[in-house]
Amino acid sequence: MILEIKKFPDQVLRKKALEVESFDNSLRELVENMAETMYSAPGVGLAAPQVGVSKRLFIIDISEKKDNLNVFINPVIVNAEGEILEEEGCLSLPGEYANVIRSREVEVLAYDLEGKQFSLKADGLMSRAIQHELDHLNGTLFIDKLPIFKREAIKKSIKKRKELGEY
Ligand code: NI
Repeated sequence: MILEIKKFPDQVLRKKALEVESFDNSLRELVENMAETMYSAPGVGLAAPQVGVSKRLFIIDISEKKDNLNVFINPVIVNAEGEILEEEGCLSLPGEYANVIRSREVEVLAYDLEGKQFSLKADGLMSRAIQHELDHLNGTLFIDKLPIFKREAIKKSIKKRKELGEY
């Protein structure tokens, strides 16, 4: 089932999400629906708060064929190295893009759908996506990481597009 993607300035995107406590069928169903929603958008990552569920989980698939779904439940970044500036967007701010500074490499600890803990070291797009999606679990959006003039320009653009019915 394709879920509605909440857009900025929806307040659910600003909440600190709660830990997942039960690895049950409803969690599996949520992840299945989130995957369908992400693939149809299309996007490379989606966090639960973006579909209105304030829980600490997100999914990422950076593969070309869209056949390598990564599920991160209760994720924590345990190590981060370097810095890199690259363009980023977000399904919750459709049509808006900006260069965002992120760590170059991260190591993340998370649980999979079976409740098994795993560790993953990532760089490139995967590293960027992990940091972006983890921010969503803490109510942070990529525009929060921009210089204020750039952030204000994006907010203004959204306001204008809303008036035109294009957002
Ligand atoms: Ni996003």
